[in-house]
Amino acid sequence: MATFTSSFISFLLLSAIVLTLVFLSLSPSNQTTKISSRSSSFYTPHYSIDGKTNHTFDHSFQSFSSPILLLPPPNPTFERLQPSPSPSPSPSPSQGISLITRHERNKTRFDGIEAGLARARAAIYEAVRSHNSSSYKEGSYIPRGAMYRNHYAFHQSYTEMEKRFRIWVYKEGELPLVHSAPLNLIYSIEGQFLDEMESGKSPFAARHPDEAHTFLLPISVAYIIHYIYRPLVTFSREELQRLVQDYVAVVAGKYPYWNRTEGADHFLVSCHDWAPDISRANPRLYKNFIRVLCNANTSERFEPRRDVSIPEINIPFGKFGPPGKGLPPSKRSILAFFAGGAHGYIRKLLLEHWKDKDDEIQVHEYLDHNKRNDYFKLMGQSKFCLCPSGYEVASPRVVTAIQSGCIPVTISDNYTLPFSDVLDWSKFSVNIPSEKIPEIKTILKKISLRRYLILQGRVIKIGRHFKLNRPAQPYDMLHMILHSIWLRRLNVRPPF
Ligand SMILES: *[C@@H]1O[C@H](CO)[C@@H](O)[C@H](O)[C@H]1NC(C)=O
Ligand SMILES: *[C@@H]1O[C@H](CO)[C@@H](O)[C@H](O)[C@H]1NC(C)=O
Ligand SMILES: *[C@@H]1O[C@H](CO)[C@@H](O)[C@H](O)[C@H]1NC(C)=O
Ligand SMILES: *[C@@H]1O[C@H](CO)[C@@H](O)[C@H](O)[C@H]1NC(C)=O
Ligand SMILES: *[C@@H]1O[C@H](CO)[C@@H](O)[C@H](O)[C@H]1NC(C)=O
Ligand SMILES: *[C@@H]1O[C@H](CO)[C@@H](O)[C@H](O)[C@H]1NC(C)=O
Repeated sequence: MATFTSSFISFLLLSAIVLTLVFLSLSPSNQTTKISSRSSSFYTPHYSIDGKTNHTFDHSFQSFSSPILLLPPPNPTFERLQPSPSPSPSPSPSQGISLITRHERNKTRFDGIEAGLARARAAIYEAVRSHNSSSYKEGSYIPRGAMYRNHYAFHQSYTEMEKRFRIWVYKEGELPLVHSAPLNLIYSIEGQFLDEMESGKSPFAARHPDEAHTFLLPISVAYIIHYIYRPLVTFSREELQRLVQDYVAVVAGKYPYWNRTEGADHFLVSCHDWAPDISRANPRLYKNFIRVLCNANTSERFEPRRDVSIPEINIPFGKFGPPGKGLPPSKRSILAFFAGGAHGYIRKLLLEHWKDKDDEIQVHEYLDHNKRNDYFKLMGQSKFCLCPSGYEVASPRVVTAIQSGCIPVTISDNYTLPFSDVLDWSKFSVNIPSEKIPEIKTILKKISLRRYLILQGRVIKIGRHFKLNRPAQPYDMLHMILHSIWLRRLNVRPPF
C-alpha cells in the first residue's frame, strides 16, 4: 500500500512536471504574437466567424485544443490586463493558497459587499416610494418616459451600479479561446463586451477579486466553435461543455469565490447559438450561474430571472454599427420592410405569406443585386421594420431598426427581449406572435398616425441604450448589459 501511494505520488509529480514543460514550451512563443494580434486587430480580425473558412488565420492556435490551456499560466496575461499596479496583493498562482486563507480570516470584506448591496436595494425602494431618484454624476442622463417600466427604480438602480458595481475578470486561460472573442459580425457583442472589460478602461473592472460583486469567465463560445470545431465535422457539444467545465474547475479550485455562492455571482457572455448548451453537461454546476445570452429562448431553458438577454449586433469590419437615423417620420414611404434569408420556421412563414406580394408590406428574400447596398436606406425609409427570429430567437435587425428610427416589429415566440427588466417594449415596439403572420398588414394598419408618431419618438429616445460605444458610455448598450447583470446580483425584483 505504502509503495503504491508513493509511486502514485511520484507519478503525479512526474505528470505535473511533464505538463508544465509542455505548457512552457507551448506558451512563451505564442504569448507575444497573441498579445500583439489582440491589441492591434481591434477592428480587423484575420478571420471570419460566420462559418466561411478563412484559411489565412494563424494555425498555430490549433495546438491549443487541449485542456492544458486552462492550467494556470505562469503568467504574463495577469500583468498585461492589470490596469494599474494594484494596491492589494495579486492572486498569482503561488499565492492561491494564502489568498484563500486570508479570505477565510477576512470574511468582513464579503460582508461589506453584501452590506453595500443592501444599501443599494434600500435606495432603490426609497426612490420608488418617494418618486425621487438621483444621479451619481451631475448632468448625466436621467431616464424618464413611458419606455421604462419604472423610471425611478431604473434611474436609482443605475446610479447605485455606478457607485458600487465591480466585476472581476478571471485572468486564467490562454488566447484565443479565452480572453478574446469576435469583435465583428453577428457574434461581436461577445468580443466587444470582453474587450471593454479587459481594456483597463472600464470603471466597473475590479482591481482585486475581493472587491468584486460578480466574476466574469472570459470564455468565448464563438471562438471555441471557431477554433476547436474546425473543420465542422461534429455537432456534439461535448468539447465545448468540457472546456467550460474545466475552466470552472480551475477557478473554483484556486479561489474561494465560485464555491462561496455556488456560481451565483459568476457569469459568461455569449451570442453564439450553442451557448445555452454549456449548461446541459452539469446541471448542478450551472444551477445558479448567470448566462448572458443573445439566444434568450425560454423554450430552450433560458431563465429570465437568472439569465440575461442581450442584443445581437452585426458590426461590419471597420465600423461600429449601422449608419444614421433615417428619414423623418413624414417622409417614410414604406409601411413595413424586411429582407433576409428563409432561416428558421418563422421566416419561412413570413416569406410564404408576404414575399414580393404587397407594396406596403415589403418582404424580400434577398434584395436585388443592384439594391443590396440600400438595405439600411430602406430601413430608414420605413415606418416599421419586421424583425422575425431566424435560426435563433434574437435578430440583429432589432438594433438596426432602432438605430434607423424604424419601429421594430418583433415576430418571435418564447423570446425574452433584451433589457426587459427595465424597458417596456410594448411602449416602443410591436410584437407579433408567429401565428399572426398573415395578419401583419391588418395589425400595422390599425396603428393610428398619432400612435405611430409616439412610438417613433420613443424609438429615437431609446436609441442610446442600443448604441455601442468604445469605451462604453453611461446608459449605452454595454452599460445596459452590465446593469442587467447588476440586477441579477442585487437579486431584487423591484416593481420594474
Ligand atoms: C481572410 O483574411 C484575410 C487576411 O486578413 C482578409 O484580407 C480577408 O478579407 C479575409 N476573408 C474573409 C472572407 O473574411
Ligand atoms: C481584511 O482586509 C482588509 C483589506 O484588505 C485589511 O485591511 C484587514 O486588515 C483585513 N482584516 C483581517 C481580519 O484580516
Ligand atoms: C430628492 O432627493 C434628494 C436627495 O437624494 C434631495 O436633495 C431632494 O431635495 C429630493 N427632491 C424632492 C423633490 O424631494
Ligand atoms: C470548491 O469545491 C470543489 C468541489 O467541491 C473543490 O474541489 C474545491 O477544492 C473547492 N475550492 C476551494 C477553493 O476550496
Ligand atoms: C413558446 O411559444 C409557444 C407559441 O407562442 C407557446 O405555445 C409555448 O407555451 C411557449 N413556451 C414557453 C416555454 O414559453
Ligand atoms: C426555441 O427553442 C425551441 C425549443 O428548442 C425550438 O423549437 C425553437 O425553434 C427555438 N426558436 C427559434 C426561433 O429558434
